Amino acid sequence: MTSIQIDGLKYQYPTSDFKLAIDQLTITENLVAIAGQNGAGKSTLFKLLTGLVHPQAGEIHINHRDLASLTPEDRLKTIGIVFQDPSSQLFNATVEKEVAWSVLQVETDAAVVADTVNDALATVGLTELKDKNPFDLSMPEKKLLSIATVLAVNPQIYLFDEPMISLDWPSQQLVTHLMQHLAEEKHQVIAITHDMNWLAATFAKVDVLADGQVIFEGKPETFFGDSALTQKTGLMTPRIMQIAQEVFDDSRVYLTPEDYFEKHSEKR
Ligand SMILES: Nc1ncnc2c1ncn2[C@@H]1O[C@H](COP(=O)(O)OP(=O)(O)OP(=O)(O)O)[C@@H](O)[C@H]1O
Ligand SMILES: [Mg+2]
Repeated sequence: MTSIQIDGLKYQYPTSDFKLAIDQLTITENLVAIAGQNGAGKSTLFKLLTGLVHPQAGEIHINHRDLASLTPEDRLKTIGIVFQDPSSQLFNATVEKEVAWSVLQVETDAAVVADTVNDALATVGLTELKDKNPFDLSMPEKKLLSIATVLAVNPQIYLFDEPMISLDWPSQQLVTHLMQHLAEEKHQVIAITHDMNWLAATFAKVDVLADGQVIFEGKPETFFGDSALTQKTGLMTPRIMQIAQEVFDDSRVYLTPEDYFEKHSEKR
């Protein structure tokens, strides 16, 4: 089982007053959401977890190994990130070369590289576009390609920064199923999201950040049931909860429409 242990973490950008300060955070679940308002520090936490920026204080341990002590190759195999903006991740001449470039960071056998590239492209449905220039792809296709570049390395931990943004409905379904599949395969999948409907339907654990600190860790059901906390963090409850409240004056927690019908059919 994969675990992330954060202790006494402090980070400040050289040019900003924002301070990230996480005393202690343990992530052991396989499918975890990170929520919080704009500027709460979610993407900064991901940058720290991938070693893109280094903390001024504190430690991050992954599977009891200090992140700072990992070689670049070990780090790539341990934790991979899909950025919010896929363009920042793409720079090769073709879709196929883009994925191959990623694999070559951790694998030298040409036959293995070719097979891995084919598998990753097939998983995200981009096989037929393999000779295209990544910059000629549509936004959802670019995002799927950036996911393929991480899949091809197959890290233990996958970080997704706003994976649903700029995806059409079929791609959202594909990516959600892929994340669930990875979690079932014992990978750890952590996603930042502003989409509370998707969060409520997909994740059993949420960590909520506000002003650079973790202010809630637990089940989405518990978080959405605490109206003082949701108001304080400025996060919406799932749409079905708002409808139940507005239409039926019902303030119970409902994660999805299915959850609503289940809870009501229990009563009958
Ligand atoms: N490279 C940077 N240099 C200076 N300040 C930065 C940099 N990146 C982010 N910040 C600041 O750090 C704070 C936290 O930013 P961060 O990107 O982690 O927030 P976030 O929770 O991901 O927000 P959003 O939901 O808008 O993506 C913000 O005040 C932001 O302006
Ligand atoms: Mg962000």
